[in-house]
Amino acid sequence: MFKAITSEDISAFQGIVGDRCLVDEESLQTYSHDETEDISILPTVVLKPISPEEVSEIMKHCFAENICVTPSGARTGLSGGAIPVHGGVALSMEKFNRILNIDEKNHQVTTEPGVITEVLQNAVKEKGLFYPPDPASKGSCFIGGNVSENSGGPKAVKYGVTNEYVLNLEVVLPNGEIIWTGANVLKNATGYNLTQLITGSEGTLAIITKIVLKLIPHPTHNLLLLAPFFSAEKAAEAVGAIFREGITPSGLEFMERDALIWTQDFLGDKTIHVGDNHAAHLLIEVDGFDPEILMNDCAKIMEVLDQFETDEVLFAESQAQKDALWKLRRSVGEAVKSNSIYKEEDTVVPRFALPELLHHIKRIGSNYGFKSVCYGHAGDGNLHVNIIKGDLSDEKWNNELPVAIRELFQEVVRLGGTLSGEHGIGLVQKPYMDVAFSETSLNLMRSIKEVFDPKGILNPGKIF
Ligand code: LAC
Ligand code: ZN
Repeated sequence: MFKAITSEDISAFQGIVGDRCLVDEESLQTYSHDETEDISILPTVVLKPISPEEVSEIMKHCFAENICVTPSGARTGLSGGAIPVHGGVALSMEKFNRILNIDEKNHQVTTEPGVITEVLQNAVKEKGLFYPPDPASKGSCFIGGNVSENSGGPKAVKYGVTNEYVLNLEVVLPNGEIIWTGANVLKNATGYNLTQLITGSEGTLAIITKIVLKLIPHPTHNLLLLAPFFSAEKAAEAVGAIFREGITPSGLEFMERDALIWTQDFLGDKTIHVGDNHAAHLLIEVDGFDPEILMNDCAKIMEVLDQFETDEVLFAESQAQKDALWKLRRSVGEAVKSNSIYKEEDTVVPRFALPELLHHIKRIGSNYGFKSVCYGHAGDGNLHVNIIKGDLSDEKWNNELPVAIRELFQEVVRLGGTLSGEHGIGLVQKPYMDVAFSETSLNLMRSIKEVFDPKGILNPGKIF
């Protein structure tokens, strides 16, 4: 399908990026995987360009020679978007690590894609500005990967996901042409929205080389509480009830019992007491500029929680306690990974359907004999379902699990939801795309891909 890379191609790449062209075993291993399950496929070569012009030269060569290219960021993705499934070039964007301009007058930042999200957040915070999207991996993921996957995170419930902040992108097309997709403006009714089309396109349409993001004033105060519930479904019901009170928390996270226990074991910190009768916890944050309003919000939240049978609610009293609670929540994914082979689904439904989603997850799990650990962004109706291999046979895992997952996705779609809220489709969810889309819709997407990438050389094997 694609041309195998030859020594002439390697020489051509060396001519473009010099010694940032790597073929040693260790580099190939490093770029063979992201954080998706246990999947690893080697590229033939790793290239680390430093400028849009170098990316352009690489793409011109690959386009002419029919060589496939997989863009690679910090490799923290959870749907296999950065795995070079057809070998070829792994195009690392890690050298694009400069924040180019924080425009305080217009509340915007222009950045290269290889900046770590938290580094960007801290840099704009120094100017009193806020870039809210905060995936669990914010301390290691790249902003370019966040744009490519349209990442979310706990703050999305109040502030929205990445695409709501992307104003303009400089990208290199598969044929090597460099374009800007839009303009650095807050509203734009000028033609098709290429910026938003490329955001979330999982590196399949173009390679992002510059990003212009919208910023907002940074909230000055927040309050955080952790509520233990005797029933997981009641916890899920409480989520909708909090919004019905007119409160929009800046975080509303759900953790099932095992998620909390496993993570405390993983971190070696058992500060949070998990009682025998605690089925799930909600971690709830409110933020803003007026401490009194936030206290009122918390009082209202407590009234709501009262109706759903909770044990004693923990109020974080210090910044250190808040940090510890968020660290706990952000480490759940890693903790599950360290425990067993697993598969992670990123189900999302309208918020009020959350209790029903949880019910179906457990029902399907028990029908097929699979254990699951659920956690995630309950305020968004976005539940990460970690299906645990434990001591299940390979036979069951490989043959029956896909049937169970398909059944789960069918319920999700019936509830008005879809396959992924924030992790993307990539490699691992692509067998299920027909559950969410008709053949007509899928063909429209395939046609768009073909317009951008007529030879199909950019991140092949993803989404469709
Ligand atoms: C989280 C990642 C897995 O929410 O999305 O922890
Ligand atoms: Zn998440």
